[in-house]
Amino acid sequence: MTRVIKIDPNYPDPQVIGAAADCLRSGGLVAFPTETVYGLGANAFNQQAVERIFQAKERPASDPIIVHICDLNQFMEVAIDVTSPALALANEFWPGPLTIIQKRNPRVPAVVSAGLGTIAVRLPRHPVALALIRAAGVPVAAPSANRFARPSSTQAGHVLSDLEERVDMILDGGPAPIGLESSVVDVLSEPPLLLRPGGISLEDLRRIVPAIILKSQYKDVKDAEAQRSPGQLSRHYSPRTPLILVKGSADQIVGKLNAIAVYLVEHKKKVGILCADEDKGSLEGSATACLSLGSKNDLDTIGINLFSCLRQIDQAGVDFILIGEVEESGIGLAIRDRLFRASEGREIDSIADLNRLKIL
Ligand code: TXA
Ligand code: MG
Repeated sequence: MTRVIKIDPNYPDPQVIGAAADCLRSGGLVAFPTETVYGLGANAFNQQAVERIFQAKERPASDPIIVHICDLNQFMEVAIDVTSPALALANEFWPGPLTIIQKRNPRVPAVVSAGLGTIAVRLPRHPVALALIRAAGVPVAAPSANRFARPSSTQAGHVLSDLEERVDMILDGGPAPIGLESSVVDVLSEPPLLLRPGGISLEDLRRIVPAIILKSQYKDVKDAEAQRSPGQLSRHYSPRTPLILVKGSADQIVGKLNAIAVYLVEHKKKVGILCADEDKGSLEGSATACLSLGSKNDLDTIGINLFSCLRQIDQAGVDFILIGEVEESGIGLAIRDRLFRASEGREIDSIADLNRLKIL
């Protein structure tokens, strides 16, 4: 049985937190809100509990999990030989949406890190997440609380629809404030790498570690390579309906979305479109379903709404979902990454490209 319990995101009820912490300590799985997305948590020191996470998500054992901590003392319990760039990043961005790769403390079962000698660590800032980890008294291993390869859960309802009966308790603290996952950085590698763009921008990370570069994760990363550098699997965050990412400059995108939608409709396909508020009026006529993500000038809001709109339009009974590329700056880099992965490489610039994809 999955228990869903409402909890105030800012002033979490200590009794509810106590019950959830007991559940974690006795080997259970608790889904909880973080500032990025909902996490599916287990006691990081309990190998069997962590194995249950992999089963619940149907996640391959080759994909390592982030461990969540509530203070720097716990950092030393899960990692060893912590480096000075790691501490500098932690001082600047924790608590917050940043995950740092360090050497794994052998106290943490290898299954957490998919057998790697490293560990991904994050100190979240959401009051519910912090209170839960503190009350549990142990670090909490928690991937995003969705079925493997599906869009991450930004609301308790998403967790329930993906993981009902597979999770003991869901703390419903309302929508996740950022809506996209943490940035994952590997400061052990030379040069230091941003493995996954997320809630802390590359620009901000470079203020602390100027040499950091984006691991170019785009395209054709084979599974073998993906295993060596985890997080690079290109099928990820995907709705069940094929998503087509339309490329072009900001002033061309609406025209292209429209032309492609009309073309697909002529070929008897039902089309769903995700777009900016400003463009909805000119696009909704060509689509069966059209949802707006937020204003063009407000990428933060587009990030907040992205996963829940992907889930929503996936239910609309369309054959294809169309979405236009966004700008690369700030949180835009993370949005572009999620869209590229959700599209599974179906990036097009024109109708000619669409024909080349042979999807009709
Ligand atoms: O915002 C977030 O990070 C959320 C919330 C719940 O904290 N968690 C999350 O976890 O997104 P997950 O498991 O969905 O994504 C973890 C990412 C994956 O890309 C994984 O491959 C990478 O972190 N990762 C974990 N451990 C790693 C390691 N030791 N080395 C390299 N990458 C690692
Ligand atoms: Mg995930």
